[in-house]
Amino acid sequence: MSTQHVPEPAMAPGASAPAVAAAIAPERNQHLRRYLMCRPEHFTVRYRINPWMEPSRPTDTALAVRQWQTLYDTYIALGHEVELIDPLPGLPDMVYTANGGFVLDGIAYGPKFRHPERAAEAPAFMAWFAAQGFEVRAPLEVNEGEGDFLLAGETILAGSGFRSAGASHRELAEIFGREVVPLRLVDPRFYHLDTALAVLDPVVGFANGGPERAGIAYLAEAFDAESLAVLRARFPDAIVVSSADGAAFGLNAASDGKHVLVSPRASGFARQLEARGYTPVPVDLSELLLGGGGIKCCTLELRG
Ligand code: ARG
Repeated sequence: MSTQHVPEPAMAPGASAPAVAAAIAPERNQHLRRYLMCRPEHFTVRYRINPWMEPSRPTDTALAVRQWQTLYDTYIALGHEVELIDPLPGLPDMVYTANGGFVLDGIAYGPKFRHPERAAEAPAFMAWFAAQGFEVRAPLEVNEGEGDFLLAGETILAGSGFRSAGASHRELAEIFGREVVPLRLVDPRFYHLDTALAVLDPVVGFANGGPERAGIAYLAEAFDAESLAVLRARFPDAIVVSSADGAAFGLNAASDGKHVLVSPRASGFARQLEARGYTPVPVDLSELLLGGGGIKCCTLELRG
């Protein structure tokens, strides 16, 4: 075996910092997930419902499909299960399945889109959930599913300000019987909660003097002062990302508790993740960013 002739990587001068970080960072455990995705066969940008969308700029649907396929393949390679919903012509944003609902305890709370351009996606997602045996709850209030609702431990963090109505938070609490923590978004670039906050560890909570949990990561300036105070009090050890990493859609990341699929442009966030014991896995969805979506937007978690 030639292994013994290979120089020990830890001897390299640049390797000392990660080695120290790894020594103090907690061990992370992977949780296998079941996800719903939608191949972007009809992806394009022909309307503008968020500041990232520019209908006059051409899109490359084939490239979007290839990038999306890499995301799909990465989930499969990591051992996750991925379900697919058929893309419908005329619904270019259907690729962003995170907005298709919020699924927990075998119950699928359906979406009710803010903008008419996406309205027809709602019945398609609800029909899919029903066909898969989920108990479907049709929404009364405007909400955009897991784009604005993120499960953090036993608590649901719920965004409002641009898309989901505040009243949907009450509906959410009634359906799932969980604590719902409202968070108000103030920057139009970060119009869904999943563009401004990522849940990294399914077991989140106070640091409590124990090992650092870093259950979540967020972009401070995306929230109003009151919401920011709530985040600081509840998650004192959260990763707070830089403006640059936030603007690169770094927080639109998907974590299984160990691997964090993240935009390659959010390099500072990747280093913060490594320092906390996570394994960043770069996945580039630059073409889908033209629609204002990234990794997490293309991923809906199905919790049975
Ligand atoms: N073009 C889509 C919209 O504006 C993008 C949705 C992104 N999804 C998300 N979960 N952030 O509705």
